[in-house]
Amino acid sequence: MLSKTMQDALNEQMKNEFFSAYLYMAMAGYFQSEDLPGIANWMRVQALEEMTHGEKFFHFICDTAGRTDLRAIDAPTNGFKSPQAAFEFGLKHENFVTDRINQLMDLAKQEGNHRAQIFLQWFVTEQIEEEANFSLIIRKLKRVEGDGRGLLMLDQELAARVFVPPVAAL
Ligand code: FEO
Repeated sequence: MLSKTMQDALNEQMKNEFFSAYLYMAMAGYFQSEDLPGIANWMRVQALEEMTHGEKFFHFICDTAGRTDLRAIDAPTNGFKSPQAAFEFGLKHENFVTDRINQLMDLAKQEGNHRAQIFLQWFVTEQIEEEANFSLIIRKLKRVEGDGRGLLMLDQELAARVFVPPVAAL
């Protein structure tokens, strides 16, 4: 059984995860319009992963006899001044998500909610990878700044990312 406070916080984070999907899909559209289909692919895969994160919250709320509450999602930013600016925006968003996950974990500990702590542990670990992925690409973009060939090579590299559904989440 979830406390009202925990249920509300989980529903809010479910919204944040689905918003993340919307944001990264918007970024995919931006990269597509910049003739960088490989980076657009990376962002689309990122968006699909965020959908599974939102689903994880959905299932956890249901499995713990809570009530899901699908909330309004804001329009994401659709335009960016450069590829680097887009990834920096994404990293800032991931920093925000990490902060929210940490707050949720704090709440789960305060409430002595062991199930929520175990559930949230996956997200604590996932956020390390999320921030590292964005940070690495930002560093690469800084290296190729002003070098069109370097940017096209990075585009080719990011074209290789594929979406792998996390079986445990579904
Ligand atoms: Fe689900 Fe990128 O945080």
